[in-house]
Amino acid sequence: MLNAQQGTLDKINIAIDGPAGAGKSTVARQVAKKLSYVYVDTGAMYRAVTWFMMGHGISASDTDRVLGAMKELHIELIPGELTQQVIVNGEDVTSYIRTNEISQHASSYAKIGPLRSVLVDMQRQMAASKGVVMDGRDIGTHVLPQAELKIFLTASVEERAQRRYQEIKDSQQITLEQLMHDIAARDRQDEQREISPLVCAEDAISLDTTSMNIDEVVDQIIDYCITKTDGAK
Ligand code: C5P
Repeated sequence: MLNAQQGTLDKINIAIDGPAGAGKSTVARQVAKKLSYVYVDTGAMYRAVTWFMMGHGISASDTDRVLGAMKELHIELIPGELTQQVIVNGEDVTSYIRTNEISQHASSYAKIGPLRSVLVDMQRQMAASKGVVMDGRDIGTHVLPQAELKIFLTASVEERAQRRYQEIKDSQQITLEQLMHDIAARDRQDEQREISPLVCAEDAISLDTTSMNIDEVVDQIIDYCITKTDGAK
């Protein structure tokens, strides 16, 4: 892993994809921290767009208005210790984009091809100098098909709803049953859309985390990463 001539670590890009609530962001953030890589949460970008469009009364079905409004939209992701800060046109929207309402609407905007292209270009630029852990739905298949390590994280719908429930039950009024229903609906929308649907890349390692804890998943991915970087020597 150590580049003897430069005395630096050779960095790779790591793509982590999977359905809602599979633990991608928690795992990706911790993997990035352990490797001193940059974490990029692409779901936050789709959420930021959704927050902006909904705030301006622009429906996902009005594609022309959505695409027009994209020209007025400037998204910045600022990596932080605990969370990645999301700034939209200078306003910190980090906490506003995590509501269940935004979660439910994001997949409708995420279906719009030209909108995806704008965000995908930004994501590729962020990963251009390597050393990035990027999570989303289409990272291994479309955004970074050359990523050296691709992980597809899954877990049962029940387990994913339970995890989300524990996260938000104190701050949002929602039942576990409603969350299960919402997560299953979001899976359907993300898996069945025409452009960049949620699918495991052929060369991705699939990890079912239903009965794994976060540390186990993180350690497993770090092991894969070490094997990749050492194996490349
Ligand atoms: O990952 P997160 O749940 O925050 O993503 C919110 C929504 O954004 C997803 O349900 C999906 O519709 C969309 N998304 C996407 N492609 C990505 C990341 C997220 O379509 N790379």
